[in-house]
Amino acid sequence: MSTDIFSPFKLGPFTLKNRLGVAPMTRMSAGPESVPRQDVLDFLVRRAENGAALVYTEAIVTDYESAQGYPGQSRILTQPQVDAWKRVTDAIRANGAVSVMQMFHCGRMAWPEINPARRSIAPSAVAPRQDNPLTGKPYPVPEAMSRFDIEHVVNGFVETAKGAVAAGFDGVEVHGAHGYLINQFLSSYSNRREDEYGGPLANRFRLAREILRAVRGVIPRDRLLTLRISNWAIADMEVSQFKDAREWEELVDLIDAEPIDALSVSTYDFRAKAFGTDRTMAGLTRSRTTRPLMICGRIHDRATALEALAEADIALSGKSMLLNPDFVGHVRQGLDMAPFSSQEANVAYTETPLP
Ligand SMILES: Cc1cc2nc3c(=O)[nH]c(=O)nc-3n(C[C@H](O)[C@H](O)[C@H](O)COP(=O)(O)O)c2cc1C
Repeated sequence: MSTDIFSPFKLGPFTLKNRLGVAPMTRMSAGPESVPRQDVLDFLVRRAENGAALVYTEAIVTDYESAQGYPGQSRILTQPQVDAWKRVTDAIRANGAVSVMQMFHCGRMAWPEINPARRSIAPSAVAPRQDNPLTGKPYPVPEAMSRFDIEHVVNGFVETAKGAVAAGFDGVEVHGAHGYLINQFLSSYSNRREDEYGGPLANRFRLAREILRAVRGVIPRDRLLTLRISNWAIADMEVSQFKDAREWEELVDLIDAEPIDALSVSTYDFRAKAFGTDRTMAGLTRSRTTRPLMICGRIHDRATALEALAEADIALSGKSMLLNPDFVGHVRQGLDMAPFSSQEANVAYTETPLP
């Protein structure tokens, strides 16, 4: 039996008013000060006004060295950046919704020219096979991270989490999905290290564990810590990041031992069967953990939300939340809504304000 979409859900110390959330979405709108355009900040508040129970930010980059992968990304490391986001978190809370900042380091997906240190760093000196669609050129071969680099990266997540707490976010999410740095460590496709951060999955998980524990240590108990994972990556999309269902289960078991409040699983299509099994990614994940579970990927109307909630606690929508300001109301009314295409979502990266 499926959960009622509009039933409350206890997530850590918060009670979500329904099961619908805005998935994290990068907008590339920030200027040199690394603060998003006002209309991009307002967009998040409007989704809370219009009924979303949970609002994720765009992925915030975690340092001023090598974390950034796209132009116009944001940071929460300085007081002006904190102040800009404080107005957003206050307004989201005033509308009865919960705000979570997502943060990431791009690793080998970084764009060295837009990073102050002009470096690309990763677990191993292995570049994605495909070209960077933004530059039309191959991604540079990254430098394999030293122990110093690892500590610096962990510290970037910690400092950014502190910024999020100062800005009043109800929680932070560590982005371990989509082929960015943490995912690069997790996957043997990009992690060829021979030290204690490479080899068996338990070792490849070490960076994620260090980040989660360090971040948990600096956020108050009454804030959320979530982790997002996926089996797909933005570059080399055809590659399965994990070998098989068994490896995914092992990953979930490792995560289950960590101090997180929820696990967010990102898919292309929540209905797709995972690793050639007869189970979905949500079903497979649910079978290994009792933690609150979020699922995302082609949830675009009442029927798909209901179906997704049969195997997860919270349904996140990306493109439908992006392009339809009344998405939550329309789900409540049970209106027919088709999924939006990625092409349609590209308006996210333009200067056109979204309704
Ligand atoms: C414009 C855009 C930007 C995105 N940026 C992020 C991001 O910063 N972090 C992230 O984890 N996922 C990001 N995603 C992926 C979405 O969170 C979501 O997983 C994906 O769109 C699939 O959900 P959907 O079918 O509901 O759109 C982005 C998606 C879109 C359309």
